[in-house]
Amino acid sequence: MPDIKDENLAVKGKQRIEWAEKHMPVLRLIKERFEKEKPLNGIRIGACLHVTTETANLMITLKAGGAEVKLCASNPLSTQDDVAAALVKEYGIDVYAVTGEDNEAYYKHINSILDFKPQVTMDDGADLVSTIHSKRTECLEEIIAGTEETTTGVIRFKAMERDKVLKYPIIAVNDATTKFMFDNRYGTGQSTLDGIIRATNILIAGKNVVVAGYGWCGRGFALKAKGMGANVIVTEVDHLKALEARMDGFRVKPMNDACKKADIIVTLTGDINVIDKHHFELMKPECLIANSGHFNVEINIDALEEIKKSKRTVRDFVEEYTLKDGKRIYILGEGRLINLAAAEGHPADVMDMSFANQALSAEYIMQTKGKLEPKVYVVPENLDKTIAKLKLEAMGIKIDTLTEEQKKYLASWETGT
Ligand code: ADE
Repeated sequence: MPDIKDENLAVKGKQRIEWAEKHMPVLRLIKERFEKEKPLNGIRIGACLHVTTETANLMITLKAGGAEVKLCASNPLSTQDDVAAALVKEYGIDVYAVTGEDNEAYYKHINSILDFKPQVTMDDGADLVSTIHSKRTECLEEIIAGTEETTTGVIRFKAMERDKVLKYPIIAVNDATTKFMFDNRYGTGQSTLDGIIRATNILIAGKNVVVAGYGWCGRGFALKAKGMGANVIVTEVDHLKALEARMDGFRVKPMNDACKKADIIVTLTGDINVIDKHHFELMKPECLIANSGHFNVEINIDALEEIKKSKRTVRDFVEEYTLKDGKRIYILGEGRLINLAAAEGHPADVMDMSFANQALSAEYIMQTKGKLEPKVYVVPENLDKTIAKLKLEAMGIKIDTLTEEQKKYLASWETGT
């Protein structure tokens, strides 16, 4: 039995799923082909992804390919309850997810997916696969392979591979170029701002915005914040990325300095305690702090709880903490992914490419069944390139092609000045 908040939300959920579908032309083409070819016939797919309109379209595509699909949430705050209802009532896809679920319900839902003995896993952050490896090892028998959607999950899987504990192959969807260059950069960039704005309704122009981490997500967010008139300061631990941030036109400082000036701090690092106890103490009064990294570990909220005098909710997704010296600071969305907690995650236009990679990776898993080792694999380059080509075509953009002479030149080494 699925576990959702309210099945009466299904009509609204279906409308929103259909709206997203209009903006997912590449996934639509794959769905149309899957309907005819049924490359996933009879395969059980267990997915642990953010339950959004875009994910719904991926689930519908996999089902069109012949798979039996069940979905649970990859974050307790990101579930869109109307989407969950529509998937169950309108599309016949079981969902186990209720927005705001506690940790116990979150893992109960993951276990419901595992009770169904998936043959392919689709993860966003590796909670499903790490549960299989730690507590539900009996599931390993039937699993062919899995996919991983996000940077944090891929890092966890690479650590498992390094420690020789990974038991089945994982396709790192995150590492496909048509995923990270667009979803991580433009998707996180826009949706993080969207989350902060929906939660606070503040003006970005003129604010000092501190961006912790200049990976693809940090780059995207810094770019969008700058575009809205913020004074952006980047903090980094990597010399190369710090240099890149500087040459992209941003100020670069250590967090101890940056936080003293910040009106808004956003963490996008994938690491823990990036904002720690001493930062809260150094921070400018009225600072807003949000996280857009996968897990809610980047802001040390436990430390903040220790040094607070009082706390209250001042708006949806905004907790005001008053410290012992009377200074007030604000945590947005409980330090969870602000773009999915307070907004709707990345727009469908970029999830189109991410989820095209997921769908084609599921097909690739079936084509290579029994041939892959328990390692982390990249999405095959031809799939990545096909997605870029289809996306451009869907956008009505034509590009040039090499002439025979140019191809020959690129393949040669004799011709010089
Ligand atoms: N991750 C980030 N944005 C998302 C979205 N809209 N749907 C699913 N996963 C996401």
